[in-house]
Amino acid sequence: MKIFLDTANVEDISLYNDFIDGVTTNPTLLSQYAHSEHTFLIKRICELVTGHVSVEVISSDFDEMIREGRELAALDSKVCVKLPCTLDGMKVCKRLSIDGIATNLTLCFSPTQALMAAKCGATYVSPFIGRLDDAGHDGLALIEDISEIYNVNEYETIILAASIRSVTHVVRAAMDGVGAVTISPKILKQCLEHPLTDKGLEIFANDWEKGK
Ligand code: E4P
Repeated sequence: MKIFLDTANVEDISLYNDFIDGVTTNPTLLSQYAHSEHTFLIKRICELVTGHVSVEVISSDFDEMIREGRELAALDSKVCVKLPCTLDGMKVCKRLSIDGIATNLTLCFSPTQALMAAKCGATYVSPFIGRLDDAGHDGLALIEDISEIYNVNEYETIILAASIRSVTHVVRAAMDGVGAVTISPKILKQCLEHPLTDKGLEIFANDWEKGK
C-alpha cells in the first residue's frame, strides 16, 4: 500500500520522506504553506519526493480545468492532476489520461462516482472517509464497496483513501486492500509511535543506569 503525506509543509515532507511514496495537496493545504507563487512550492515538493504529488485544479469549468491541468502537469513529471468528481472533472480526466497525464479524482463520496472515475481512466480515486463519517455515514463502508467493484471489474484505478482521521482508519484501509492512503503528518507520527515503546525504553535506560 502506498502512503502519501497529505500536506504542503516542506519540513514535514522532509521529516517523513523515508516512509512516504508521494504527497497529496489541496487548495486549502497549498494556501496554508505557499508564501509566494504556488508553483514554487509545488516544484520544491516534487524535488523532495520520489513519487506522485497530487495538485488540484481550482476551476470547475471544463476548458479552464483542461488548461490548468496541462499547466500543472508541465511543472514536473511527478505532478498528478487532481480533479473533482463532477461531470466536467471526469471528462477532463479522460482527456488528460489519453495524454498520459496522471490524474486523481478527488472528493469521491459514492461507489458510482468511483465507478465512473475508473471508466474515465483515473490513475487514483480519492474517497473521503472522514468527511463521510462527519456527515453521519460510514466512510470505511465506501472503501469496501469501491474495492469490491474494482476487483470484480478488474479496474486499474488505484483507491487512495483520503480524509483519514485516525490510525484505525489507516489500519482498516490497509486491511481492505486499498492501493494507497493519504495521511496528515499528525496521523503518520501516530502510526510510528506506541506508549509501550516509550515506556520500554525508559525501563531499559533506568536498568542500565542501575547496573553501572
Ligand atoms: C485528500 O487528497 C485531501 O487533501 C484530504 O485527505 C482531505 O482531508 P480533510 O477532510 O481532513 O480535509
